[in-house]
Amino acid sequence: MIAPLRSDPTIVNVALGERSYDIVIGRGVLASLGARIAGLRPGAKVVIVTDDNVARYHLEPAEAALREAGVAASRVIVPPGEASKSYRVFEQVCEAIVASRIERGDLVVALGGGVIGDLAGFAASVIRRGIDYVQVPTTMLADVDSSVGGKTAIDSAHGKNLIGAFHQPILVLADTALLDTLPDREFRAGYAELAKYGLLGDAAFFAWLEANWRDVFGGAAAREHAIAVACRAKAAIVTRDERETGDRALLNLGHTFGHALEAACGFSDRLLHGEAIAAGMALAFEFSARRQGLIGMSEAKRAIRHLADVGLPTRIKDIPGSPPSVDQLMELIAQDKKVRRGMLILILVRGVGAAFIERGVDAREVRTFLSEKLAER
Ligand SMILES: NC(=O)c1ccc[n+]([C@@H]2O[C@H](COP(=O)([O-])OP(=O)(O)OC[C@H]3O[C@@H](n4cnc5c(N)ncnc54)[C@H](O)[C@@H]3O)[C@@H](O)[C@H]2O)c1
Ligand SMILES: [Zn+2]
Repeated sequence: MIAPLRSDPTIVNVALGERSYDIVIGRGVLASLGARIAGLRPGAKVVIVTDDNVARYHLEPAEAALREAGVAASRVIVPPGEASKSYRVFEQVCEAIVASRIERGDLVVALGGGVIGDLAGFAASVIRRGIDYVQVPTTMLADVDSSVGGKTAIDSAHGKNLIGAFHQPILVLADTALLDTLPDREFRAGYAELAKYGLLGDAAFFAWLEANWRDVFGGAAAREHAIAVACRAKAAIVTRDERETGDRALLNLGHTFGHALEAACGFSDRLLHGEAIAAGMALAFEFSARRQGLIGMSEAKRAIRHLADVGLPTRIKDIPGSPPSVDQLMELIAQDKKVRRGMLILILVRGVGAAFIERGVDAREVRTFLSEKLAER
């Protein structure tokens, strides 16, 4: 029997022709996992890929939901953390999935955050030349970002996410109650990616977040609403530009500065991805105001204030440990962005909710700006 939901789930469709799928969002929707899979792929078996932390809280309910619908399931549990997006763990996961006698019509279920989604999704993209998979995101970041859009990858010694594939899931089941067990710091980091949708293209949503962010953290209906808005925004962008040849790059607001900070911190616990993106978005707003004259400083301050209010880092000096040098940051930006003739591509803003892709930013302007920011300490 499917446990009763508090209310009907919200369904957001990602319209990609024959690769279209639904994102089902709501408190308690995990209980419908088996019934939904049986509906989409009658008779299919599944392998659940998850990590130790998620398994502790959510694996048994997921397995129970499958069992109740008569869906046979096996499991693969990997250690938590980015280190699992490695060739070694990828090989282990692929071998375990193949050993469970998965056939072409069977499915992988990625139960976890972005690490599990990327790892299990990439495994699904290559096993038997591609089998279907379902995303069951368990972090805020995965709910609003990594579970939607079909980017899957593992890391190379040369950089993050360099070995991967586009492979869309057949279903995303976003149970907002799963976030109740997420550490506060992880939730907050994921919130940065949520706020990003307001900052890049939806001023009304940003204003709503300014008024309602406490309820989003609290887990009320506001959380479902916020995740649904973000998923709709991401679905619209992915539908327009599945393979990031244009518009999809807007989703990288804050990511050039953010990645440089994240890399300078060695991709460690010192600075989580979402925290780096919060600081990166704050820098992108301030750069747009102070160095490009695109917006007034008060508009930039409004964006930055909200991120700071929820407890995210917005200044380089908010990052614990010794700061990077401007040379180090510029080198990391150049690696990320391939500066051509001293020009780089940045996502800049003409206001809250009005981001755009600027293809000719003078790298010297960025250097001057970052030098000033580093001197603020
Ligand atoms: N594919 C994409 O489009 C895309 C987009 C953004 C980020 N990513 C990738 O996502 C990854 C980051 O994802 P993340 O922030 O979700 O990290 P994560 O998957 O490592 O999860 C963060 C931590 O929370 C734990 N956890 C997860 N769910 C939990 C729960 N419900 N309760 C308790 N603990 C829980 C995990 O075990 C882990 O320790 C990065 O590898 C990044 O490259 C991919
Ligand atoms: Zn991101």
